[in-house]
Amino acid sequence: MPELQQSNLPWVEKYRPKTLDELISHKDILSTINRFVAEDRLPHLLLYGPPGTGKTTTILAVARQLYPNNSQFGAAVLELNASDDRGINVVREKVLTFASTRSMFTTGFKIIILDEADAMTKDAQNALRRIVEKYTDNVRFCFICNYLSKMIPAIQSRCTRFRFAPLSREQMVPRIREITEKENITVSDSGMSAVVRLANGDMRRALNMLQSTSLSHDEVTEDTVYTCIGHPLRKDIKKIAELMLNSSFKDAFTQIQQIQRDKGLALQDILEDIHLLVHKIDFPTHLRLKIVDKLCEVEFRLSSGTSEKLQLSGMIAAFQLARDPLISSMDTS
Ligand SMILES: Nc1ncnc2c1ncn2[C@@H]1O[C@H](COP(=O)(O)OP(=O)(O)O)[C@@H](O)[C@H]1O
Ligand SMILES: [Mg+2]
Repeated sequence: MPELQQSNLPWVEKYRPKTLDELISHKDILSTINRFVAEDRLPHLLLYGPPGTGKTTTILAVARQLYPNNSQFGAAVLELNASDDRGINVVREKVLTFASTRSMFTTGFKIIILDEADAMTKDAQNALRRIVEKYTDNVRFCFICNYLSKMIPAIQSRCTRFRFAPLSREQMVPRIREITEKENITVSDSGMSAVVRLANGDMRRALNMLQSTSLSHDEVTEDTVYTCIGHPLRKDIKKIAELMLNSSFKDAFTQIQQIQRDKGLALQDILEDIHLLVHKIDFPTHLRLKIVDKLCEVEFRLSSGTSEKLQLSGMIAAFQLARDPLISSMDTS
């Protein structure tokens, strides 16, 4: 396969740290793993945590450190991820074959990486627990998953666990700056804030957002980021909240629908941001609670596939039912 040109690579691959030192977070985890490697005592690993926090990158860096040269790497490292079929038969065949053969040119142990392991069936996981024990002499397993609770306890107890927390703003910003400087991209301060806010600690999401925004717009600003990923702009959300609080039901309904149509916004996304806004508006506490409670109901119904029009009415109703007592209390005071 021809080498992909560097410039065509998605940034998440182009800027995937090659060594443990390059990773920007989880220093305590990395130094522990580094010590395991240095002392040649690598245990079976279970890396878990939300997406885009460096789990796959970490284990690939470890494997590369152990097997710097390509042919060794190929012979000693087996990587399976969610796109592979991982029913019980694949686990038996692929993993067992790889685990049980000794290669001629490499010493030390082999590494089997099971990425997105929480997508494996319980049966497949159960089949693995025996293999993990049987081949501990010459194979180290590394399970990677988002949800620890989806791994069977037997596997959890055979591994040393590390939790990868979402990255903080302070960790993400310098790395993003470094990358945008290399790519010659102009990012405004508000654009940077928007990327970090929307990424929510997921570095993959941040880089993908930046790359697609910079491809479609000259400059990365708050507006271009939001527009590019189809997220409601903050000014639209404000407008929607104002309509719900100040206009008649009918006006609010038609105008919000118009905004949805013009900007291609899903009610789900609006709801999420409106919820954040409700916490910032200075409502009396009992009204805030009422609204939040209603918004929860609307979201629940929406996620079970009910009519978006009806749920939009529900959202507006939640606000208007809460605001009316507020207005009448103002009238009397
Ligand atoms: N801690 C980190 N330091 C630097 N870059 C990171 C870090 N975490 C994630 N990234 C970036 O995000 C991309 C996805 O990371 P990855 O390790 O695949 O995440 P996951 O935790 O979902 O396996 C990487 O290619 C890298 O560019
Ligand atoms: Mg991963």
